[in-house]
Amino acid sequence: MSAKEVETDLDAGVLHNSEWVKRWEVGDIAFHQSRYDSLFDSQGEALFPGGAKSVFVPLCGKTPDMIWMYNQGHSVVGVELSEQAVQELFSENKLEARVQHVEGVGPLYTSTDGRLQVYVGDLFDLTKDQLSEFDRVWDSRSLVAINVVDQERYRNLLLSLLKKGGEYYLKTLDYDPTVWPGPPHNISRQRVNELYGEHCNIEILEETNRTGLNPNTPRVPHSDVNPPTDPSGDVVPQAKPSSAGAALKMSSYLYDRWYKLLLK
Ligand SMILES: C[S@@+](CC[C@H](N)C(=O)[O-])C[C@H]1O[C@@H](n2cnc3c(N)ncnc32)[C@H](O)[C@@H]1O
Repeated sequence: MSAKEVETDLDAGVLHNSEWVKRWEVGDIAFHQSRYDSLFDSQGEALFPGGAKSVFVPLCGKTPDMIWMYNQGHSVVGVELSEQAVQELFSENKLEARVQHVEGVGPLYTSTDGRLQVYVGDLFDLTKDQLSEFDRVWDSRSLVAINVVDQERYRNLLLSLLKKGGEYYLKTLDYDPTVWPGPPHNISRQRVNELYGEHCNIEILEETNRTGLNPNTPRVPHSDVNPPTDPSGDVVPQAKPSSAGAALKMSSYLYDRWYKLLLK
């Protein structure tokens, strides 16, 4: 493990709130992208037809996606555990913030024009009454960060925040879950159907095959199909990769997918 990675409970694939905050403190934020998502390049106008929209961004970090949407005139509300991330979102984009305290949640950072708001706290401490309803949910690799046991209540909360006719954009990672316990958690097409299929019509907007990012790294075979065994038939434990990045490079398949979910 490098000095910039926070030790976590790998076996369970669970990351606690304090560990996320710690990751920001030590700079273990390989998930952060310095440029906004390329879906805005390919489909930007189609995502937001007919003028300004309200957008909710769960587990937002300091993603430039928020700034892209804000700069297009939309009203953007995010929630993020790490106050450092939120302070950096505002300062790195030269946005002044007013800060107030929201009972039961934590600080709320608001731009001077009121169109960008970010709660510092746990998504699950927010209620629909506090947030109201949105035209869009922008879930860019946020579901994949949620502990598996919380995925259903996460889905319920986010769907409850969508206006009738609203659109939920979901970006997932799909890889061999035997190489890494998460986060990021593997979210297959089947899992998207399990979580959202009853409530939403599901369309895949974009699929990017990122398999074999590093051709020098030996890829792990589908060990759920044929795990290596010793002569007695016991499964031989495999060396664990040291980080999510290293693990994903070893996966025999790796796909990014953007879905558009429409409430039924
Ligand atoms: C994988 S990162 C994704 C960040 C962002 N969506 C992006 O694309 O850069 C997950 C983020 O969610 C935050 N987070 C994790 N659990 C959370 C929770 N329950 N409530 C609010 N934020 C949370 C973490 O601190 C981290 O910044």
